[in-house]
Amino acid sequence: MKERIQQIIAEVEAFKAAHATEVEDFRIRYLGKKGVLNDLFADFKLVAPEHRKETGRLLNELKNYIQNKFDQGRTAFDTQGVAFKPTPDLTMPVDFQELGARHPVSLVMNRVIDVFGRIGFPVAEGPEIEDDWHNFSALNFPPEHPARDMQDTFFLEKNPDIALRTHTSSVQIRYMEKHKPPLRAIFPGRVYRNEAISARAHCLFHQVEGLYVDKNVSFADLKQTLLYFAREMFDADTKIRLRPSFFPFTEPSAEMDISCNICSGKGCNICKYTGWVEILGCGMVDPSVLENCGINSMEYTGYAFGIGMERMALLLYQINDLRLFFENDLRFLKQFTPAI
Ligand code: PHE
Repeated sequence: MKERIQQIIAEVEAFKAAHATEVEDFRIRYLGKKGVLNDLFADFKLVAPEHRKETGRLLNELKNYIQNKFDQGRTAFDTQGVAFKPTPDLTMPVDFQELGARHPVSLVMNRVIDVFGRIGFPVAEGPEIEDDWHNFSALNFPPEHPARDMQDTFFLEKNPDIALRTHTSSVQIRYMEKHKPPLRAIFPGRVYRNEAISARAHCLFHQVEGLYVDKNVSFADLKQTLLYFAREMFDADTKIRLRPSFFPFTEPSAEMDISCNICSGKGCNICKYTGWVEILGCGMVDPSVLENCGINSMEYTGYAFGIGMERMALLLYQINDLRLFFENDLRFLKQFTPAI
């Protein structure tokens, strides 16, 4: 009896109806007056008393199973006997496809490109692997300059020297070699320095440098352009100040601070309680650099500047550790996704 029950379970399990008439056949075969179930119940009388309890339980289970299967079959067809199409469950959670996002440094860089684009600066690019001429010599770096040291620069080859560019000023040289003044452009890109990685320094970072060469370009033009830039990037009432500095390729040279965008100049830990934060280096292009590129320095003058993008992003997003930009931690990076 047990084996018969098991065999019937297997049969019922395998049953699949393609049309409502087959469900009716199923009912007659298993649940009908002369059906399988009734036969089994009739035979129950013959079961030995010691097996009755267990067999009875199995029989009842089988009955429920068959009844369920029949009910399921009945609801799967419409009045014409045609199978209902399974309706998709619209409340099911979807397989979520994550959207990509721009890196915060790219977001800032694109903004810088946009700000200068509005005053007529096109973008120019150059190689990240540079020769000595474009990265150092044409920019007036003397042979003994510390930047030419292995400690500061990643050299790929020596004699002749090939290195990972240490700034995008190399692209300024390439640009002046190709274009005659009046000229202006900005030079965004990756640069490399042999520095220990810390919260404030990294061996790889991003710059946007700028260059403008024409007749009668003055320091006042530089200052006004940078004021415009600072106010577009930060608040409209941002102040700037220029401190004398030194770069081999500009004369005079300066570093530019903006009034701290966090505390509005009142003093906080970002500006180290000075009210000012440094954001870029700049100056008037040294006449010998112009001459190196075949530009007559008696006729033309120019200004140049270089802005660190990570620094900019730290200030704009109020982040205190530069390493976060390079760790590719999605929990960090997701925070800068502009709302779609
Ligand atoms: N090249 C300089 C640097 O990387 C920045 C700079 C560019 C300064 C142009 C002055 C003029 O630090």
